[in-house]
Amino acid sequence: MSTNQRLRPITTEIKEEHLYIGGCDMVELADKYGTPLYVLDEETIRSMCREYKSAFRNYNNIHMIYACKAMCNLAVLKILSQEGFGFDTVSAGEIYTAYKAGVDMKRVLFNGNNKSAKEIERALEYGIGRFSVDNFYEAELLNSIALSKNTIADILLRITPGIECHTHDYIQTGQIDSKFGFDLSRTDEIINLIKVKYKNLNLKGLHAHIGSQIFETRSYYDEVEILIRELARIKEKHNLSLNEINIGGGLGVKYTLEDCPPSVEELASAVTKAMKKALDKYSIEEPVIYIEPGRSIISTAGVTLYKVGSFKKIPGVRKYVALDGGMADNPRPAMYQAKYTAEAANKMNNSETELVTLAGRYCESGDILIEKTELPRLEAGDIVCVYNTGAYNYSMASNYNRVEKPAMVLVNNSQSDMIVNRESLEDLIARENIPDRLR
Ligand code: LLP
Repeated sequence: MSTNQRLRPITTEIKEEHLYIGGCDMVELADKYGTPLYVLDEETIRSMCREYKSAFRNYNNIHMIYACKAMCNLAVLKILSQEGFGFDTVSAGEIYTAYKAGVDMKRVLFNGNNKSAKEIERALEYGIGRFSVDNFYEAELLNSIALSKNTIADILLRITPGIECHTHDYIQTGQIDSKFGFDLSRTDEIINLIKVKYKNLNLKGLHAHIGSQIFETRSYYDEVEILIRELARIKEKHNLSLNEINIGGGLGVKYTLEDCPPSVEELASAVTKAMKKALDKYSIEEPVIYIEPGRSIISTAGVTLYKVGSFKKIPGVRKYVALDGGMADNPRPAMYQAKYTAEAANKMNNSETELVTLAGRYCESGDILIEKTELPRLEAGDIVCVYNTGAYNYSMASNYNRVEKPAMVLVNNSQSDMIVNRESLEDLIARENIPDRLR
């Protein structure tokens, strides 16, 4: 079983009714570091990285780059760089974090549909390896900044391949309405500009990303075919041999028992089969493949611990159990109606359960973490663990209701280390000023 097909981190154990991850008792961690608490299991991250590498073992020219947007902090980027990953970044903030984590900046790609001049300048100064150029405006801007710095930027062109995935479904159409990338009908135009005008851009290949939380490997198969077809067409039409394709991220994970995402092996098999077939068909040389997973690398490794507080029972309707976090530390249920799975970390063997709604603490009726879940009879002070919160929780967290963002603890071999400190009340006002005229 692939790590992304598990609901819980790979080191999960139950000992005397308590939930253990990375050899640490989650109840003790909640007590020691406070709640809500993001917990990250190092072994689960490393194992997923190794699964990716092993799944693509038969394809020599593969580069794994981690999509930082899923979760970006110094310790996480350090672990991923130790595992041989490069990084897909989308802001100066993510690039700076990568730089400060000491990663090889040549393995950093800068992606995004509206990079600012300042961000581009920074990226060139840090010597990042690739820009994924998204649109005409950016091509002009990047070329002029590179020219002013007397340097050449190595680029991929972000294209819209006409495939769109939404978890279980995918559609393949000639055109999709997306804010990202060049429509295939415009690639000739941008390539002509690069050849004739943008002398400080060095075109290396094509980049696409077809969606997130994907359950359908067939869509990758079609994506690879489209990218290779486009490389062949560009070679023929422009006499340009591009030899890199970036197929984006997107592999799904298991948030609930019903979710059945494909394994990394299945993903790799679809990609390599499509590649072999397309290379034969279009007779071009095997390109370098970049793959940039985010969620599937980090999601399963992360859990969030909450403390139970108040209750509200509405006879004949439901019982609300309120936790001390919610939509500010995990906005996904409110934003995307995302489903999660929870257990009581201090009542793991308790078989007497009841149906409850896990509500957050924020002032919004929509702040519900799990709409319906069977849990042991909870009391104030119990610790609830929500699984699969590694991706797009911490990275999308806010200070809504002026609540301090949680701490994050990395666990491994019964050791726990705080890798993100809990915000303090002082932190909340640290960058604010009252103008003199208001005093
Ligand atoms: N590459 C590109 C160009 C992307 O836009 C993304 C994600 C990835 C890679 C990584 O995709 P992943 O492997 O994580 O699926 N906030 C949403 C997810 C947004 C994904 C945006 N792009 C959520 O919480 O579900």
